[in-house]
Amino acid sequence: SGKFFVGGNWKCNGTKDSISKLVSDLNSATLESDVDVVVAPPFVYLDQVKNSLTEQIEIAAQNCWTGKGGAFTGEISVEQLKDLGCKWVVLGHSERRHILGENNEFIGKKAAYALSQNLGVIACIGELLEEREAGKTFDVCFQQMKAFADAVPSWDDVVIAYEPVWAIGTGKVATPEQAQEVHVAVRDWLSKNVSAEVASKTRIIYGGSVNGGNCAELAKKEDIDGFLVGGASLKGPEFATIINSVT
Ligand code: 13P
Repeated sequence: SGKFFVGGNWKCNGTKDSISKLVSDLNSATLESDVDVVVAPPFVYLDQVKNSLTEQIEIAAQNCWTGKGGAFTGEISVEQLKDLGCKWVVLGHSERRHILGENNEFIGKKAAYALSQNLGVIACIGELLEEREAGKTFDVCFQQMKAFADAVPSWDDVVIAYEPVWAIGTGKVATPEQAQEVHVAVRDWLSKNVSAEVASKTRIIYGGSVNGGNCAELAKKEDIDGFLVGGASLKGPEFATIINSVT
């Protein structure tokens, strides 16, 4: 459903020099044209990347504030992100949920405000290992989905990223069957709780240890509409391989 979507989440990595090299590798790569490609550099390099990266790739932020800017020390507003040419923001990432302590309500506020200002949202969900082992994967994902659904005015500019926490940065990628199972459940949840149209149109992408070697098998699954890539997105040629895994 929808155009294949591949995001590169650079997280808190890079220097001016390493990012300039990554941008030049991406600019010289041959990328399938029928894929939406987005990279999320650290805030401090957004402008550098926007000004040097091929227009085929859009820019995302890794976070944003919940409303208009002002006296919010250390925060970055949606308006500022748009001023730099950002088209997307990643929200609800597991590192922000579990390391920074962001809850569903706070994430929902950010999503609502970003969408109200026409900034697209890459909405991340996913269970911890102990939740999976306790048979709570769907419960957790549905709760996270409900928080987004309660907050967002429309799903037109939302991409859902299913990122099981146990697969992030661990080298333990979900099997294509494990990912497909959750993607189907999330789509079914959307169909029951939002609408059949939103369920069929909304892209659900997978994240967690995706690399150049495992992307092709995952991409074959019917409900995997793309990827959110961490570590492997820091290597231009490997990220290109992942983009080009579109089937
Ligand atoms: P890795 O690809 O490094 O596992 O990270 C996934 C991720 O968190 C993308 O947002």
